[in-house]
Amino acid sequence: MDPPGEATGGVARGKPGHKHTSRWRGNSSDASSRWRGMMTKSHGKADKAAESAESATAAAQGNTELFGLLRQDHEMVRELLKRIEKSSSGQVELRQELFSKLEHELLVHMEAEERFFYTALEQHDESREGALESYEEHQVTKSIIGAFNGLAVDDARWPAKLRVLGQLVRRHEDEEEHKLFKVAKKVLGNDQLQGIAARVQDLRRERSAPKAAANVVSAQEGRRK
Ligand SMILES: [Fe+2]
Ligand SMILES: [Fe+2]
Repeated sequence: MDPPGEATGGVARGKPGHKHTSRWRGNSSDASSRWRGMMTKSHGKADKAAESAESATAAAQGNTELFGLLRQDHEMVRELLKRIEKSSSGQVELRQELFSKLEHELLVHMEAEERFFYTALEQHDESREGALESYEEHQVTKSIIGAFNGLAVDDARWPAKLRVLGQLVRRHEDEEEHKLFKVAKKVLGNDQLQGIAARVQDLRRERSAPKAAANVVSAQEGRRK
């Protein structure tokens, strides 16, 4: 039997015997620049109609920023999963590096959602059930990630675990994007959404690491193609 997972929402960390070193400390890109342009205020006379339009635009921008950030994380995770799945079992070092990055990205993303997003959703009847279910799915995800500890990438169980992790994560992300985000738009105010987005960005910056490590992964992958 595999040992139960020990990941608890913190950042990825190396452990004795952990085959997937966490030397790669992630490169959660700062999405603020991408979305900053969308926050530009409109010009024109401040009459009632314009104020109303500006307010509606600001609300849409607040939503876009938080959900854009989370979708960006989801996309990065899907891309990493795809790259790992495309790699061959002989590409041991590449798989280790890619998995370390995936682990880091997933743990930071789940920590951000749990601390700032799900806690806000739990406060509302309409979104509580979805938040609690999402939280439980995170726990299962962390358990599976923990089960990779000490397991060599060329072990026959490694790709089997990866398939289960991939299925779970992809389904979870789809449900968030198609269900949870919609409910969140209904129950959370624009100020709250903007506040959550800012805290998510702060956490990502806190957990981010030198970009050089990411380049090592790309270079290794390029050499092995
Ligand atoms: Fe999630
Ligand atoms: Fe998510």
